[in-house]
Amino acid sequence: MVRDYSDEAVDPAVVDRALANAVRAPSAGFSQGWAFLVLEQPEDVRRFWAATADDLDEPDSWLAGMMGAPVVILPCSSKATYLRRYAEDDKGWTDQDESRWPMPFWHMDAAMAALLILQTATDAGLGSCFIGVPPDKDAAVREAFGIPDDHDPVGVITIGHRAGGEAPSGSPRTRTRRPLDELVHRGHWGQAARG
Ligand SMILES: Cc1cc2nc3c(=O)[nH]c(=O)nc-3n(C[C@H](O)[C@H](O)[C@H](O)COP(=O)(O)O)c2cc1C
Repeated sequence: MVRDYSDEAVDPAVVDRALANAVRAPSAGFSQGWAFLVLEQPEDVRRFWAATADDLDEPDSWLAGMMGAPVVILPCSSKATYLRRYAEDDKGWTDQDESRWPMPFWHMDAAMAALLILQTATDAGLGSCFIGVPPDKDAAVREAFGIPDDHDPVGVITIGHRAGGEAPSGSPRTRTRRPLDELVHRGHWGQAARG
């Protein structure tokens, strides 16, 4: 994740490719209940930070770095689209009862689309970062950009050129990456070894 950007512009073709890749993400029932709010005009990006930041005029170093990203994308999920899709004849959940859902697939699918956007940025040699919308700023973001009630931003992706060369920002410098043998269970929970 990159949290400090230079002021170099992002090629719109990269943004278009990221969005084209995003809609190739898997989606439950091919519901495709996602949408993407794309901010690439400086005044729009500024309005996003104005809606979410507490002190735009005296930003802390995190905010100052993040605000430099020329592109901001909010992947959104639409639960209603999934409930309607799974009430269709081939699925048949006509009661649209949410307890039928093993997981909130609407958020999962939007998150998978988000990862494709992040990967496309990396492929293009750019930096990106995924963050959330603070709950107490959700209404302000909706208001600022006209996001309808039946869509929820699952997060925010900043995209731009990394400031300060290639040095990784790197949480692994301060927190260890958990080892695979602690996370992978083979055949039975608690067994890490193969065979
Ligand atoms: C759901 C989610 C929420 C995140 N929220 C934030 C955030 O609010 N601020 C931030 O700086 N990074 C956020 N991140 C980025 C993570 O901190 C990052 O993926 C992780 O620390 C590893 O990257 P790093 O080495 O650059 O820190 C978020 C990532 C995810 C997947």
